[in-house]
Amino acid sequence: MKILFVTPECAPYVKTGGLGDVSGALPATLAAQGHEVRVLMPAYSGMQVSGGAGIAVEIPAHGQWPRAQLLQVEAGNGVTLLLLSCPELYDRAGGPYVDATGRDHHDTARRFGFLCRIGAALGTSASPCPRWRADVVHANDWPCGLAPLYLAQARSPAPHEPAAASVMTIHNLAFQGVFPMDTADLVGIPGHWRGIEGVEFWGQLSMLKAGLQFADAITTVSPTYAREIQTDAFGVGLQGVLRTKADRLTGILNGIDTQLWNPATDQLIPHRYSAADLAGKALNKAALQQRCGLSVDPRAMLFGLVSRLTSQKGIDLVLGVLDATLASGGQLVVLGQGEPALQDALLAAAHVHPAAVSLTLGFDEALAHQIEAGADCFLMPSRFEPCGLNQMYSQAYGTPPIVTATGGLADSVVDATTQPGTGTGFVMRSQNTAGLEQAVGRAMTAWRDPPAWRQLQRNGMGRSFAWTESAARYLEVYQRAIDSAQG
Ligand code: ADP
Ligand code: GLC
Repeated sequence: MKILFVTPECAPYVKTGGLGDVSGALPATLAAQGHEVRVLMPAYSGMQVSGGAGIAVEIPAHGQWPRAQLLQVEAGNGVTLLLLSCPELYDRAGGPYVDATGRDHHDTARRFGFLCRIGAALGTSASPCPRWRADVVHANDWPCGLAPLYLAQARSPAPHEPAAASVMTIHNLAFQGVFPMDTADLVGIPGHWRGIEGVEFWGQLSMLKAGLQFADAITTVSPTYAREIQTDAFGVGLQGVLRTKADRLTGILNGIDTQLWNPATDQLIPHRYSAADLAGKALNKAALQQRCGLSVDPRAMLFGLVSRLTSQKGIDLVLGVLDATLASGGQLVVLGQGEPALQDALLAAAHVHPAAVSLTLGFDEALAHQIEAGADCFLMPSRFEPCGLNQMYSQAYGTPPIVTATGGLADSVVDATTQPGTGTGFVMRSQNTAGLEQAVGRAMTAWRDPPAWRQLQRNGMGRSFAWTESAARYLEVYQRAIDSAQG
């Protein structure tokens, strides 16, 4: 199958969160299974990409769209990267979504509209890549939401132009790409698709809704989240649309890159270890305590947290249980960045308890690995979590996670209290401070029983979170989308 994976971010080149990890790993797994996979993303400034460079394809200016180039790079993992180079849109300071001052890029709709435009073109006979037309275009999150619409546009009116099927994946429904309706002119949305059956969302244009309305298949990143987003509590205003599309909505749990996230081979951690020999884990803990300025004490239970610091992630709950956790002899190491109020509260705690609480503000891939390896237990009390990757990394690193019973957390963590034989972490019984405090208490009690704790660690380390099985599920969805687009 010829698969085009369109994404605003891809590890290891550009990553702000889990979508970057998924974009790095899923296409490579599909390629290893024998498919022709290309990943299309913008050529952002400062991107370090190594690999065999192929020919650059010129894309002439067309209508309101600028001239650009498509740079082809063999990424070395079987995937061809297609970097969309257009200096006026992508060559500037900042990240994929925000400028250097942290505000949304002023021309966000055009930046991602153009990405979608080229993604859709790669699925038609007007493909800018000579002799390569995608069978399926896989669009990820709202920045890629217009690609299914443009493909639907290419297919109509009859006689049908052969065009790729489209699959829209929701990685996080909380981000929808909503813009004033006059943006529709800018990105070329026909008048008859600007209403409620099209892109309209409370009078504005929603790029994610465009993707949901026009995709041949919709997926999200865990089975539980697929159910949750059809409810008023989790649907963020799109629950009605999702309910009407329920027959084409599938939840597929993300996998993890087992080469990058493997404590037996991880070059970013000081000491490697495995389920058979956990000795290195204690050494990683001491190294982490030292690096973060905490007291180097093997008897202090060390809790780790690597996250965007936002209300989604339940950071306020962590702050709410901090005093009790420290009073019971715990320590906390945090890596993240996000909402100023949460950053300030964590900084204040680190200031008051320098030997027991550490906060590193910023994005640091190596420290993220070191926290997974060095912490005793990982905190992830998210209010909602489409999938979540850190709870899977934690299990692979023998660092049992404490999680809420939501989304991908519910689908990937087995509670050790209720299922002691197979447990891999602690599932909170209520989504509030009391629920977290109680789960922390259960974890501390279990940790003080070393043989039981080792069993818990080994249960998690023994689980397979490899992408293979989920990639097979995506192939089924791709095929269904192709059948439905042809039907
Ligand atoms: P989300 O995509 O909602 O942020 P996920 O758990 O799916 O949550 O993925 C987050 C990814 O980003 C993980 O790989 C995590 O380690 C990484 N990450 C988050 N914050 C940081 C940070 N400050 N530094 C390094 N890595 C981070
Ligand atoms: C989003 C979600 C997260 C998920 C990731 C990758 O950022 O918040 O739960 O793991 O996408 O799918």
